[in-house]
Amino acid sequence: MENRPQWGTRSGFILAAIGSAVGLGNIWRFPAVAYENGGGAFFIPYLFALLTAGIPLLILEFTIGHKYRGSSPLSFARMNKKWEWLGWWQVAVSFVISTYYAAIIAWSGSYAFFSFGEKWGKDSEGFLFGSYLKLADKAGDVGGIVPGVFWPMVLVWGITFFVLLKGIKKGIEVANKIMIPTLVVLFMVIVVRALTLDGAAQGLDAFFKPNWDTIADPKVWVAAYGQIFFSLSIGFAIMITYSSYLPKKTDLTNSAFITGFANSGFELLAGIGVFAALGFMAQQAGVPVSEVVAGGVGLAFVVFPQIISEFPAFNGLFGFLFFTCLVLAGLTSLISIVETFVAGVQEKFKVSRTKAVLVGGGLSSLFSILIATKGGLYFLDSADYFINQFGVALAGLVEVVAVAWVMKELKNLQKHTNEISDVMVGTWWRICLGVITPIVLGYMMVQNIITNIKENYGGYPTGFLLYTGWGVAIGAIVLGFVFAAIKWDKDISVSSKGVSQ
Ligand code: ALA
Repeated sequence: MENRPQWGTRSGFILAAIGSAVGLGNIWRFPAVAYENGGGAFFIPYLFALLTAGIPLLILEFTIGHKYRGSSPLSFARMNKKWEWLGWWQVAVSFVISTYYAAIIAWSGSYAFFSFGEKWGKDSEGFLFGSYLKLADKAGDVGGIVPGVFWPMVLVWGITFFVLLKGIKKGIEVANKIMIPTLVVLFMVIVVRALTLDGAAQGLDAFFKPNWDTIADPKVWVAAYGQIFFSLSIGFAIMITYSSYLPKKTDLTNSAFITGFANSGFELLAGIGVFAALGFMAQQAGVPVSEVVAGGVGLAFVVFPQIISEFPAFNGLFGFLFFTCLVLAGLTSLISIVETFVAGVQEKFKVSRTKAVLVGGGLSSLFSILIATKGGLYFLDSADYFINQFGVALAGLVEVVAVAWVMKELKNLQKHTNEISDVMVGTWWRICLGVITPIVLGYMMVQNIITNIKENYGGYPTGFLLYTGWGVAIGAIVLGFVFAAIKWDKDISVSSKGVSQ
């Protein structure tokens, strides 16, 4: 495809890849996952997962996108027509994630403004679930749209549409060049402030103190792999799509290392900042850090507001900065998530970028209204859990097995990346992808299936999980096959020979 858009600069591409990787997962997920899985000792499985799966898969996805120069479905179709469905499956997974990711960014935006005057008052939990989300009593109840979530979400979608409509170079690249440096500066301010609070050392101690017993527990390794996949945006079509906009000459391996280490660096920084703040809170309350630790929604929207209220000075300002960081980290990831289906739709149906953004983004924004209802949090929680376990991680597993063992493409891809990269990948790369990752992820999948069959996630009723969790995850696979069955526009060359390299 001669007219494929391109990044303006290599740094623009790397910033966009980092922007995609650094997201809500880094700030609210990582600190709690690390703490619950052995604190300091978690760094061993985490580093192992980063080096054996994270970075090797990033190199793989960068190489696939660059070699086949297409969205994830087109790239897989060009690799082998039988595997196009895998690309669509990944796109469908991204579609699901985009619907609730937009809602969380909207909450963060609201909370940035709630920080002035500490609108949550003395009961941040009651405020979140009652006054703000107006949470329905029962999972499965929709209960009407909540305007306080709906309108900020319209704004989130507005910004995302605006950036995507402007295209790769003028839209995504420029947005990341502005948002990522801003995010890093603001986040540093918060981390430095957190580190100078009373009790910070206690928090860091809790975070870094290794609990070596956990190393032998397979669950900890599974958690490390799960975190790396979501956090590095691998397994959901993003990195393939982004690298398809690279020029012919570029260093893929190096870019993957920079992206991987930058993402983990940010994650570590988030862990330090969050635990320093938790240490402060524990000291104020006169309890051990273990009693104030939370993750996900609880950490960002219940515990953090409490911490902000207890700040010695400039409470509103620091609250605003923290939630603005969530908005920035979230937006750059959301843009990348939506770009996967914009690119897929644009190529498959040979429509203009504008049409693809309006149709793809439009559909996702319509679905996201469900998350802005009174029952939204339940849908979000179940869909997020299932699409991560049986979407992102499973698609990643199928991807490595398909590429390494079924299509036997690893050597070709290795040759491709080595021809243009400074850092060469060798046998270790093929072993990581072809042997280590499939074994660990395969084990993880079997365990996950057993656990989820034995026990309903979150204690939700089976009927609810069937359509919001299992149904969504299986639906994404079915959609993969449905879209793959549709014929490509006759002007699109699906043959790998048609790719000008
Ligand atoms: N990689 C993105 C995150 O961590 C999706 O949130």
